Amino acid sequence: MSSLSNKRIILGVTGGIAAYKSAEIIRRLQDQGAEVRVVMTAAAEEFIRPLTMQALSGNPVHSQLLDSEAEAGMGHIELARWADLLLIAPASADFIANMVHGRADSLLSAIHLATPAIVAVAPAMNQAMWAHAASVANISMLQERGVRIIGPDEGIQACGDVGPGRMQQPDAIVHNLGSLFQTGRLAGKKLVITAGPTREALDPVRYISNHSSGKMGYALAEAAIEAGANVSLISGPVAIAPPERCQFTAVESAQQMLNASLEAAADADIFIAAAAVADYRASSVAEQKIKKQGEQISISLEKNPDIVASVAQQTDCFVVGFAAETQDVESYARDKLARKNLHAIIANDVSRGDVGFNAEDNEVSWIDADSTKVFSKRSKAQLARDILEHMVNHHKL
Ligand code: PMT
Repeated sequence: MSSLSNKRIILGVTGGIAAYKSAEIIRRLQDQGAEVRVVMTAAAEEFIRPLTMQALSGNPVHSQLLDSEAEAGMGHIELARWADLLLIAPASADFIANMVHGRADSLLSAIHLATPAIVAVAPAMNQAMWAHAASVANISMLQERGVRIIGPDEGIQACGDVGPGRMQQPDAIVHNLGSLFQTGRLAGKKLVITAGPTREALDPVRYISNHSSGKMGYALAEAAIEAGANVSLISGPVAIAPPERCQFTAVESAQQMLNASLEAAADADIFIAAAAVADYRASSVAEQKIKKQGEQISISLEKNPDIVASVAQQTDCFVVGFAAETQDVESYARDKLARKNLHAIIANDVSRGDVGFNAEDNEVSWIDADSTKVFSKRSKAQLARDILEHMVNHHKL
């Protein structure tokens, strides 16, 4: 599977005869599972019609920087943030110089300045222009800034000259882009992740729950999406927005989380249970608000189904649980690994305030049948990437 799967790519087209090949690049990127939006400069529109690019990409073509209608929809900052990759192909000598000087006089150059995405350019120009000291210096400056240069090829040029400066063929450009993402490790895999707490109703206005914020499970979902996986996130009630590009199911109770998990895991490859599921629920939920009665009240509780153990028993997934413990963390985690019949468990010390429940950071140990790997304290976002990397490498998934 391609490392471009699930990636969002802005294809920037500048003025040059090679612009006609950009239409083919859209198709090749889509073949790899990427979503493409096209941004054209005014000069590019002289060579290929925006309508062609719109029809091929399936999205409106963006070209105006100062267009109030466009800015009200997806403006230049939103586009810059949306992208995982900005590919400028063809990149004319003029546009490359524009990038070197950090100009923001067109929509494409403003996106170039604003984007946190990887930037790649496929130059296309006359061989003498490519060989000019100014172009050589410009390309070297872009490389120093981390811009990836793809090509150009050598050969007969549109003007009849022979030499380097032809834009690479669409297939070669797309092939070269694949190596820009180290992730893609989970491309083609379906991951199901549970996150957040469950709420077990006592009456219409009260419930039993816990302090899970969902941050750990959501970070895993983000990291898996980044790695190219097809992600289903099943979440109890939390205050954070679900990541884009995943199947999201909101649930409240453990029973609802179980149903959603079994359905999503039926055709999944990997199941990760980061949710803090209530072990017990009320034996019966009062129809009306429970009235204050005397000094003490007893509530009868009964055991909830074990979601991660059910998935391990009923599906072919590689199943990973978390073990939230306040003492004897590793030995309780090993016990859960065996009892729930999991492939691995992530032991989480939740006795500390700086990691675990509702913290920004976490510190855990990955435990499987034959090894333990400690992940020292780091952000949940970084930890999620490191856990997935370890899971894929160590278990050859
Ligand atoms: O959400 P955050 O604020 O970011 O906090 C993250 C976290 C601390 C909640 C998370 O890292 C974590 O440790 N999650 C597991 C919490 C938990 O309920 O652990 P447990 O030891 O009680 O359960 C063991 C495993 O069984 C877990 O994978 C749990 O999802 C699963 N389980 C538990 C009970 C149950 N009825 N069904 C289950 O599937």
